[in-house]
Amino acid sequence: MFLAIWFFVSCIVSTGYAKIHYNKFPKDFIFGVGTSSYQIEGAWNIDGKGPSIWDNFTHRVPSPISNNDTGDVACDHYHRYKEDIRNIYNIGFQFYRFSISWPRVLPTGYSKPINEKGISFYKKIINEILRYNMTPVVTIYHWDLPQRLYEDGIDWTNPKLVDIFVDYARIIISRFPEVGLWTTINEPKQICRLGYGTGILAPGVKSDGLLEYQCTYVILKTHAATYRMYKKEFSHYKAKMSIVIECPWSEPLTNTKSNKDASERLRQFECGMYMHPIYIGDWPKIVKDRIAQRSKSQNLTKSRLPSFTREEIAFIKGTQDYLGLNYYYTYLVSNIAAGEKGFTNYEYDMGAIISENPNWKFDKNLRKNTPWGIRRALKWIKGQYNNPVILITEMGVSDDGTTIQDDQRIEYYREYSCNILDAMYVDKVKVVGLGAWSLMDNFEWMLGYKSHFGLYYIDFYNDPSLKRVPKKSVQYFRQIIKSRELICNIYDTNFY
Ligand SMILES: *[C@@H]1O[C@H](CO)[C@@H](O)[C@H](O)[C@H]1NC(C)=O
Ligand SMILES: *[C@@H]1O[C@H](CO)[C@@H](O)[C@H](O)[C@H]1NC(C)=O
Ligand SMILES: *[C@@H]1O[C@H](CO)[C@@H](O)[C@H](O)[C@H]1NC(C)=O
Repeated sequence: MFLAIWFFVSCIVSTGYAKIHYNKFPKDFIFGVGTSSYQIEGAWNIDGKGPSIWDNFTHRVPSPISNNDTGDVACDHYHRYKEDIRNIYNIGFQFYRFSISWPRVLPTGYSKPINEKGISFYKKIINEILRYNMTPVVTIYHWDLPQRLYEDGIDWTNPKLVDIFVDYARIIISRFPEVGLWTTINEPKQICRLGYGTGILAPGVKSDGLLEYQCTYVILKTHAATYRMYKKEFSHYKAKMSIVIECPWSEPLTNTKSNKDASERLRQFECGMYMHPIYIGDWPKIVKDRIAQRSKSQNLTKSRLPSFTREEIAFIKGTQDYLGLNYYYTYLVSNIAAGEKGFTNYEYDMGAIISENPNWKFDKNLRKNTPWGIRRALKWIKGQYNNPVILITEMGVSDDGTTIQDDQRIEYYREYSCNILDAMYVDKVKVVGLGAWSLMDNFEWMLGYKSHFGLYYIDFYNDPSLKRVPKKSVQYFRQIIKSRELICNIYDTNFY
């Protein structure tokens, strides 16, 4: 897979972490772009679709979403999928990653009734992707849990969801044999931490350091049960399956031992909690020990982190064919003493807090653009999880929607990509492709339409025709996918 092809050494410097820059993507490296159902589809209540927890969340008064925005119409992709898929093809992308809205296919979430109009919508999307010789990459769950299940108490904190999810997955897997790559669940950390810990995402439950761990436990079991069902019942399918995990890099605020340890703890909580059970088995030891010890100091009779039985450990371990990695940014981390505050809280369980380096480049959401972070994260993942094959399923940056001359985004993709190539060629990390986030500006969860991650611009507030306008980065992708070559220089690895 990693051919010894001709590549350039653009620059060699004598100090710093990354000494060499390679700038040529291997021939079989795949480029793609991603979206998710609630963020783009709209058509929230037509053709038999049931409501999801996101429909409920965005319709609340007062609204938890910036500007009271909702995904009721979003990009109206439901009616404009042909144009959107043509745009993807015209850039030159080889895969398109989209998600299936569970309540569009199963309006109540339960396996009956099936909404055939929902099935046929995704069938048309898949056929359209195939028509252009691209690969459909399907996310089974990207956050839009059927509202009915939630109201029945069957949500991510209830183990009863496992079998119901598997029933749903079985239906769509059997209906869509053309899918080229499956991902079960997108970003379980965001679902649990932000949906059940801080409560800023649907369903908006605030149970910091408590229900969020129960959610993690249920989600890992759900992923594993889906993977095992797929391998058993669809052994004639060739498509690989995995989970998609967002794993930030963390750097110590200062080079003290306590801050270095805190950075590693943060990695184990933020990434390890999801990867370790799948790639190695069981929770990371430090996560298990810390939460157990702090639960004890609160006089609780058992740990707030549910423990896995031996059977569960074996059942979850190995349920992956590759790693779907979403990568966005780097955290600057310092230690906080565990005893400092005895209460139930994720940050104190982790014993680490995050700060920001004012010298880092920021995007409009104050996300830190630290290109060297992705290389460090990739190398760390390789070391922790036995060198998995990695597909970068998402990486991207937002803008404020005031310009389509998005040079900052181009810089971001170029610099991150230079570091990915270094990770591949120097650190021998097995990265097989990357997916840009996102095809077009869309509903960015609690930020509504203010945050623009798209390669195509849409003016949601002033243009009812929702015209897709290519940003400059469309040109960038067209060119690098064709040439498979980047300009990389020493500044790209400058480390704060
Ligand atoms: C959201 O769901 C709850 C039940 O979980 C219901 O009481 C409420 O009316 C719903 N809100 C909206 C805006 O649909
Ligand atoms: C959002 O909704 C609330 C309640 O209906 C309203 O008072 C407020 O003006 C709305 N804000 C915007 C920006 O529309
Ligand atoms: C736990 O129990 C001990 C002994 O009864 C008591 O001294 C301590 O204050 C309790 N801690 C908490 C957090 O309740």
